[in-house]
Amino acid sequence: MSELTTRLADGHETEAWREQWLDRLTAQAARTRRPSRTEQAVRRRERAEDAVVWRLLESGTPVGYLSMLQLAEDGTTIVVLEELRIDEPYRRRGLGRAAIEVAREWARGRAPRISVSTDPTDPAQLALFRDAPIGSQNMHKDLGERPSMPAGIIARRMSAEEFGPWWHEQIIGYAESFVLNGLLTEEQARERAEKQSGELLPSGLDTPLHDIYTIVAEDKPVASIWVCHEVEPNTSFVFDVVVDEGHRGKGYGRAAMVAAEQSALAHGSQTLGLNVFGHNDVALGLYTSLGYRPTSQLRTITV
Ligand SMILES: CC(C)(COP(=O)(O)OP(=O)(O)OC[C@H]1O[C@@H](n2cnc3c(N)ncnc32)[C@H](O)[C@@H]1OP(=O)(O)O)[C@@H](O)C(=O)NCCC(=O)NCCS
Repeated sequence: MSELTTRLADGHETEAWREQWLDRLTAQAARTRRPSRTEQAVRRRERAEDAVVWRLLESGTPVGYLSMLQLAEDGTTIVVLEELRIDEPYRRRGLGRAAIEVAREWARGRAPRISVSTDPTDPAQLALFRDAPIGSQNMHKDLGERPSMPAGIIARRMSAEEFGPWWHEQIIGYAESFVLNGLLTEEQARERAEKQSGELLPSGLDTPLHDIYTIVAEDKPVASIWVCHEVEPNTSFVFDVVVDEGHRGKGYGRAAMVAAEQSALAHGSQTLGLNVFGHNDVALGLYTSLGYRPTSQLRTITV
């Protein structure tokens, strides 16, 4: 078993790490069709209240880096594991796991959990973070042919009368998901849901680049779906999809997703993305069966 020690990276090492981190972020963001992610990560680093980059050592030899941030978000302090990297020749000998303990030690007394964004296509990350629950994950699908709506189901634009109640339910549901996944307290979740939704839809149904549909079956509204275009170049995003409680399990969720794909294709998008909370196994099953694949997972490590 290898012995891991640490020291703070000096200015030169920190700069070297930062440059490589940026290159890796940019490559990952391009792969997952989320180029704006790099800029977001850079901004997060800039607004951190505390940031630390460690040089990881084995018997005095540098073997990698660990970088952590502490920042204020939604009125609370969060700790983020920004990057843990073990140089290739030193992998698979317990150093990664030992470094997680260093991260935990730093986080203690700052926040109850560490947030880390992981790559679900990397077996090493899947193994290393397997005990850290998934709070939410991003998924995407590269669109092909225009899919058809199942017979007897149509998608029409949401009416002004339907918008008010839908808006209210949408905020409650979104806030609940943060709480269920242990990401925020009830009050923080409500505040965040109201703020984010308000910013996204300043003109309600008339907000440019947003399409909100009601799914109708047997002349009754049974579901709704909210799609936003140009979230990233050539990419649309599903912000919300809900099947009314009495109508679940009848294929209307699938039909709503068809409406979203049609909307994205009509807008010229090549990719449709979405975010699904960790607790939502039913939604995850639906998206997976429709061909969506996870691109990043937000996990929480208990300190
Ligand atoms: C992810 C990373 C930090 C792991 O470091 P490491 O020192 O090789 O990890 P460890 O030796 O401590 O192994 C941790 C666990 O992962 C498993 N594992 C490591 N690499 C694996 C691989 N390629 N495939 C499958 N499992 C793997 C180990 O068997 C071990 O499992 P165990 O605890 O059940 O025995 C390292 O691969 C790395 O630097 N990758 C590039 C950067 C990165 O992805 N960082 C993480 C996101 S910030």
